[in-house]
Amino acid sequence: MLGRSWAALLESGGIDHVVTTREQFDLSRPDMIDDVIGERFTHVINCAAWTDVDGAESDPDGANLANGTTVGALARRCAQTDAMLVHYSTDYVFNGQACEPYTVDAPHDPINVYGQSKSLGERLIAESGCSHLLIRTSWVYAPWGRNFVITIAGAARQRERLQVVDDQLGRPTSTEHLANATQRLIQARAAGVYHVTDGGQCTWFDFATYIAGAVNPACRVEPCASSAWVRPAPRPAYSVLDISATQTLIGPMPPWEANVDAVLAGIDA
Ligand SMILES: NC(=O)c1ccc[n+]([C@@H]2O[C@H](COP(=O)([O-])OP(=O)(O)OC[C@H]3O[C@@H](n4cnc5c(N)ncnc54)[C@H](OP(=O)(O)O)[C@@H]3O)[C@@H](O)[C@H]2O)c1
Repeated sequence: MLGRSWAALLESGGIDHVVTTREQFDLSRPDMIDDVIGERFTHVINCAAWTDVDGAESDPDGANLANGTTVGALARRCAQTDAMLVHYSTDYVFNGQACEPYTVDAPHDPINVYGQSKSLGERLIAESGCSHLLIRTSWVYAPWGRNFVITIAGAARQRERLQVVDDQLGRPTSTEHLANATQRLIQARAAGVYHVTDGGQCTWFDFATYIAGAVNPACRVEPCASSAWVRPAPRPAYSVLDISATQTLIGPMPPWEANVDAVLAGIDA
């Protein structure tokens, strides 16, 4: 999702760039890095990751390789070639037990394998000594790919009633906004760790209610508890990232409702 938004942003801005495919750079093949990352890049933007949260529970080695070890190797290659690494991490590095937004320096305590693998990637970037912009984000959606907005919009068009969990609180994030805000952070010479999400916060139930209301108001969305949807990987109950430092630097994050409207209008036919 994010890779496509970044490619569109760079293309529309006429910025010289190279997009790599999975075949050209496989995150399970750290040995491919030196060939892909030559000497001429000012920035390396890593949008790829093992994002199958439930699948990671049954293959921790695969998730740790893609999101941890290879990211560390990429960071060392960036240090070697003097490129800034722009990398994305997740609210899942935290345990979800907080009751106020997680600041950028809050301690990691992931509760699932995916979160552990992303936490490993963060640690290896810091240890590499490379210049980096590490952005944590959450609840990512786009007009393409597999995501909550597309899933709920499709289900709401077909069904009269949906049940959605109402006991997890977080911040949705549109990839178009995420790429755009990242570019503005780079332009503002930000380095280190930042949080980027849409503005506002909601539960998955609030999020679904808004999406269904936009595509089919006749569909009834009902709240339920996470315990009704047991999945292989536990999810954090509280995922709100503190975006205040980001907003100080580049201005307010647009409200999630406005970003969802834009994404619903742009969903691939
Ligand atoms: N999605 C979320 O809710 C969420 C939340 C917080 C943070 N993030 C982070 O945000 C970033 C962008 O995520 P996204 O939502 O845009 O993810 P996405 O839509 O799932 O895309 C992930 C991409 O990584 C590629 N990929 C997976 N394994 C790979 C491998 N071994 N080698 C090379 N490429 C591989 C996938 O390729 P294929 O298409 O071939 O599988 C896909 O293009 C990631 O760092 C993610 O961890 C996402």
